[in-house]
Amino acid sequence: MLRDSFGRVATDLRVSLTDKCNLRCTYCMPPEGLDWLPNAQLLTADEIVRLVTIGVERLGITEVRYTGGEPLIRRELVDIVARTAALTPRPQISLTTNGIGLARLAEPLAAAGLDRVNVSLDTLDPDTFKRLAYRDRHADVIAGLAAADEAGLRPVKVNAVLMRDLNDHEAVPLLRWCLDQGYELRFIEQMPLDAQHGWTREGMVTADEILDRLSSAFDLTVDDIEERGSAPAERFLVDGGPARVGVIGSVTRPFCGSCDRVRLTADGQVRNCLFATEESDLKTRMRAGASDEELAERWVAAVARKRAGHGIDDPSFLQPARPMSAIGG
Ligand code: 5AD
Ligand code: SF4
Repeated sequence: MLRDSFGRVATDLRVSLTDKCNLRCTYCMPPEGLDWLPNAQLLTADEIVRLVTIGVERLGITEVRYTGGEPLIRRELVDIVARTAALTPRPQISLTTNGIGLARLAEPLAAAGLDRVNVSLDTLDPDTFKRLAYRDRHADVIAGLAAADEAGLRPVKVNAVLMRDLNDHEAVPLLRWCLDQGYELRFIEQMPLDAQHGWTREGMVTADEILDRLSSAFDLTVDDIEERGSAPAERFLVDGGPARVGVIGSVTRPFCGSCDRVRLTADGQVRNCLFATEESDLKTRMRAGASDEELAERWVAAVARKRAGHGIDDPSFLQPARPMSAIGG
């Protein structure tokens, strides 16, 4: 098992399939993009499946989430999902995506065994989308969401990050739209993970603010039907339910104490936290001929070192050297 010194057990593995992306969300990367990892550094599909297999078969991973950068631009994605679905015990398989290309891929992914998707959508307005993500792709995202629903990847979840003076007036319209479509919306507080280090505490729209805005139009009650457990979203019933909305207060309402996640970067590094400043290199070991058992041992040791929390509120907090796109959401 992947147990840390505080007794938390990691069962949820997030695997970044590429650090590249076809959008440039301002809370993530600069308009000119980043220096992408060289191809030789990326894990191959076989290497990814080998590590995921070790996680599932030896280390108690029960949920595998593929992320990026943008995972849909990884050509072998359908194949990777199919091979993940063939593992015993079969893990839950989900995808965090910006939705571009999902219109074409939702069906084959569902057929390969994908269970669920989270699609990022921060605005209902194509012009705001262009300002926020530097690409004119709003319609593709909307089409991708519809295709995911059609393919049965339900409940379709939508992730939204609000930014002051950009899209923070859209909390209510976004929720209304998601309710109409039958999608489950979750707002995520903006975290200090952007490559350009532009995050400020003042610029962050907090969970409290989001809830205030939503409460002006909806009656929100804490959803005590489902335990919050280790799910980071605090969930609320909207107007008595059954529709729900989630608010992920990663910064102001940290959930580190019940975190059950561990991450694998596109270049084969285990990260025990989004905000970890240390990584454990499985790729180099694997390419030097390490056995499954050795790789599992290294992975166990990496999780054992996990710190109690992200410490964003601590004056000594250091933003990780890698941005979100290279870590995996
Ligand atoms: N803060 C909060 N959420 C972020 N995401 C990407 N960068 C940040 C950030 N700095 C979100 C994306 C996507 C998921 C992977 O994380 O919008 O939904
Ligand atoms: Fe791409 Fe996701 Fe970063 Fe946006 S947040 S630029 S969609 S990796």
